[in-house]
Amino acid sequence: MDKRPVGVFDSGLGGASVLREALKILPTENYIYYGDNKNAPYGDRSEQEILELSLKSADFLMSFGIKIMLLACNTATGTAIREIRERLSIPVISIEPAIKPACEEVIEGKILMLATKATTKMERYHKLKAKMPKCCEIVDVPCPGLVERIEQGVLGIGEFDDILNSHLRNFEGENIGGVVLGCTHYVFIKEVIADYAKRHFVGSCKLFDGNAGTVHQLARVLNNKGLQNDCKKPSVEFHTSGEETILKPLFDKLLNS
Ligand code: DGL
Repeated sequence: MDKRPVGVFDSGLGGASVLREALKILPTENYIYYGDNKNAPYGDRSEQEILELSLKSADFLMSFGIKIMLLACNTATGTAIREIRERLSIPVISIEPAIKPACEEVIEGKILMLATKATTKMERYHKLKAKMPKCCEIVDVPCPGLVERIEQGVLGIGEFDDILNSHLRNFEGENIGGVVLGCTHYVFIKEVIADYAKRHFVGSCKLFDGNAGTVHQLARVLNNKGLQNDCKKPSVEFHTSGEETILKPLFDKLLNS
């Protein structure tokens, strides 16, 4: 048994949606979460900035003696996963937009891939997309603005219509088979996006995210490398580069939502 914690990283609070899943699937681990809230959103930054910030955050998490790192940020994965893996002496698990399960399940209609501006431009993402069957029509939709609002604790149905309208109005009335939540923040507004899709599109509009798949991969690696813990009650420690007194209550709320 390895008592060291699992380190979880995101640019902000979005990674709490992955941690929430990890607490369900792997409840006998201890977790240290780091959100680089001061520098979020990463999605509007240049690749060089995202790389530097991600490496700095990875080093910070390493200072807690973590045994494995869970990169719970699609934007950081797309930009920095190779460099982080090269730099760290521990295994690193990462998340990427769930277009593969979407292509496997969607029978008809377009697949909208909602993510940060940076993710939709990344080479790593485009390589993944090139491997999908040609018959699947994946349309990338960068959604600037959503992350900032979620970071303010806004999560309600109807409270994102202005932003969603500005990014999705071109698809009004179209047959949409699936919507991929390609940013870990968006998982917290799943119902908001489902409600919007129901009002503006036709088709099944099934939602996909990579959270459970990523946590199952984390479980496999812990198991294969003999790194599992068996603690009775998981502990979760929260760290942020932002204003902790404001962010900690929001983190707790999101984790329990
Ligand atoms: N949560 C992050 C992701 O999954 C990105 C948020 C940001 O733009 O900082 O891509």
